[in-house]
Amino acid sequence: MLELGCGKGEYTVGLAREFQNKNFIGVDIKGARIWKGAKASLEEKLANVAFLRTRIEVIEAFFAPNEISEIWITFPDPQMKSGRAKKRLTSARFLTRYQQFLLNQGLIHLKTDSKFFYEYTLEVVKYNKLELIKNTSNLYNEHWTDSILSIQTHYEKLHIDEGDSINYISFKLNNQQLLKEPTFQNGE
Ligand SMILES: C[S@@+](CC[C@H](N)C(=O)[O-])C[C@H]1O[C@@H](n2cnc3c(N)ncnc32)[C@H](O)[C@@H]1O
Repeated sequence: MLELGCGKGEYTVGLAREFQNKNFIGVDIKGARIWKGAKASLEEKLANVAFLRTRIEVIEAFFAPNEISEIWITFPDPQMKSGRAKKRLTSARFLTRYQQFLLNQGLIHLKTDSKFFYEYTLEVVKYNKLELIKNTSNLYNEHWTDSILSIQTHYEKLHIDEGDSINYISFKLNNQQLLKEPTFQNGE
């Protein structure tokens, strides 16, 4: 499993603790942040955690086809300015990168404080007729019992402290499909 833009790696380490028979890799460009997750996993002697310091723009260079079964995207930069759609981690351009190493019908999870990014991702999923598994614009109002949803990252805690609601969406990615970017009213 991969966590993209993992920061200090709370999701990577949290899931690794819970599922010791699976491997978890946190990816981020900032070494000082992933150092925290690496230190925690070494101290706990978690043998199923790794971190990769790279730009997500070249992520497909690191993995073979079908090597990854799930991707978590946790509190990414929503890239709200018009013309930035192709920089969003759930854009057709990024999903096409993930198709190169994700199992067919592999799961993608997104947690975000950004209503804009949540709605944008829902639009990409619907436009491409991808299989939506779960979605909510207020995760902690749902009382879902899935333990994997209860892990909180550094940014998630900051947003919760500010009273923001947390958006969540999970969907499956067909790795054979040609993906397209929806056209929005602002011309993006
Ligand atoms: C808002 S922070 C969220 C960090 C963490 N997921 C959390 O929830 O606390 C976004 C993270 O994505 C990383 N990031 C942003 N763009 C990236 C890129 N193109 N490649 C790799 N990492 C990136 C940043 O370094 C940062 O740690």
